[in-house]
Amino acid sequence: MCGIVGMIGNRNAVPVLVEGLKRLEYRGYDSAGVAVMGADGVEIRRSVGRLTQLERVLASSPVSAPLGIGHTRWATHGEASERNSHPHSGGQGRVAMVHNGIIENYAEIKSDLREQGAEFTSDTDTEVLAQLVASKTESGEFADGLREALREARGAYAIGLLARDQPDTLYAARLGSPLIVGRGPEGTYIASDVPAILPQVTDVIYLQDGEVARITREGVDIWDLEGRPVAPDWQQVELEETAVDSAGFETFMLKEIHEQTRVLGGLLDRYVNGLEVTLPDLNLDEETIRNLDRMMIVSCGTAYYAAMYGRLLIENFTTIAVETDLGSEYRYRNPRIDDNTLLATVSQSGETADTLASVKMAKEAGCPILAICNVFGSSLVREADHLIYTHAGPEIGVASTKAFTAQLTAFVFLALHLAEVRGELTFEKKAELLVALQKIPLSIHKVLESKDRIREVAEKHHDGPSSLYLGRRFNYPIALEGALKNKEISYQHAEGYAAGEMKHGPIALINEYLPVICICTDTEDEVAEKMISNVREVQARSGRIIAIASEGDTRLHEITEDILFVPKTRECLSPLVNVVALQLLAYYAAQARGTDIDKPRNLAKSVTVE
Ligand code: M6R
Repeated sequence: MCGIVGMIGNRNAVPVLVEGLKRLEYRGYDSAGVAVMGADGVEIRRSVGRLTQLERVLASSPVSAPLGIGHTRWATHGEASERNSHPHSGGQGRVAMVHNGIIENYAEIKSDLREQGAEFTSDTDTEVLAQLVASKTESGEFADGLREALREARGAYAIGLLARDQPDTLYAARLGSPLIVGRGPEGTYIASDVPAILPQVTDVIYLQDGEVARITREGVDIWDLEGRPVAPDWQQVELEETAVDSAGFETFMLKEIHEQTRVLGGLLDRYVNGLEVTLPDLNLDEETIRNLDRMMIVSCGTAYYAAMYGRLLIENFTTIAVETDLGSEYRYRNPRIDDNTLLATVSQSGETADTLASVKMAKEAGCPILAICNVFGSSLVREADHLIYTHAGPEIGVASTKAFTAQLTAFVFLALHLAEVRGELTFEKKAELLVALQKIPLSIHKVLESKDRIREVAEKHHDGPSSLYLGRRFNYPIALEGALKNKEISYQHAEGYAAGEMKHGPIALINEYLPVICICTDTEDEVAEKMISNVREVQARSGRIIAIASEGDTRLHEITEDILFVPKTRECLSPLVNVVALQLLAYYAAQARGTDIDKPRNLAKSVTVE
């Protein structure tokens, strides 16, 4: 999704803006630009494509000033082109704006402004907002006009803004899209997230929805949209630079796949003490948990597959009825929800538009909100009454890996906690599960050690147009996630399916060219034999079977030579191990296909628009 950086300081802002935009590249973009407050007013440089392209533009037409804004754009309104790139100006260059989000009533505003004589040079909603701000700030106090314009805009925005008549001021505002203000020895900054300006800042303010900031060299003034002052809430930055570099790995994604042992180990240290699961931010009192009879889990993408796993676990250990839905569907349903339903959400970023809209809808119906989230201070965290942080650290690779296994782990903790409080889990069963869970980081480590074998299999099967992923029960969401990983980074069409559903359609696809990835690690479970029958059905139709199997399981030897062995664990925990093999399988397929693994085409890291 789009990224914003801005700076007002005591040295040339341009290198800081470009560096900040590079640090936001992971969010996904298709064009970029900067604007600085030059001696003769605002100067803008933009280009379509990667930041190297913008750097070429800046090299051939340099600009330099201590005040500027920069942007990476992920096209929503209008194609990816230079004229649609940000910054956009309004009032014939009186203001320049960068914007994340969508202005929903831009068409109405545009037609009103046209009647007043405004002319537009792009197809974007951002230019409309810039022109609106310009029209409201022709006279009077600039900040009053800015707030008036923002009150008229419907939708979501994070903006950075320069005004020609205020050559020493940077403006910022947010509603529904994240934006922070940061300060450091050489200036004050704005950015979409902390990593973008991490080397420059010591403290940050997480702007809240409806806040407008005026930033000068003297300090930061914040108001709400009605003009009431808000005291700046500076918070010390705790993130370390090592959390956002690739640490010698060829990609962030590979680094993050490898980090999973440490992330899961860290979660165990943090939330498990002996045989006690303690979730300090959950704040669900025991009576509420005992009376809980319905839960709805809503999320998007990979986080939705974590939700599916969560449902299976909670249903397995408790008598709570659990449903799941995708944020984009749930928000347009007419669901039966009330204050007896716990609405749980899962999100790496905490900024996913459809997840947030579902939360707001449920809140209005009186539901308490539980969020499983990776980002402190995110919009979702602010909406939630009950929290489990996943502590995976910044995830830079667009394709989610460590955040996903951390979400799965959070669901294990939640399910155990709910079951224990409700008296639905025996001490022995809980102890068994926790002991098995403690071994998972080591099991993941073993999967990582087998990466050469996984690479060999990926290279053998990467070239076809399509692949099919099959799993059952706890590993059905993992089949979906494995297929999603493959699609996202290798661009090979891949479909995840419940193995038992295969006969109802996808079996028609099977021939000697189709790789079929079968998750067969569950050997004692009631679906174990059924999974093997499904594999045999694929074999009978000459499908190219790649099996994920538990070490020591010999059942598959006569069926396929392409078996990826993973350490055996309890069935309900096997997804935590199996998914790592699938992440690596997708990774090496993508590498063989020569794609841009950390920044797959068309994808945004967090989808902050509908
Ligand atoms: O930040 P969130 O977890 O809410 O994001 C949800 C999805 O957009 C995200 O999981 C997406 O599917 C990833 N690209 C998966 O790799």
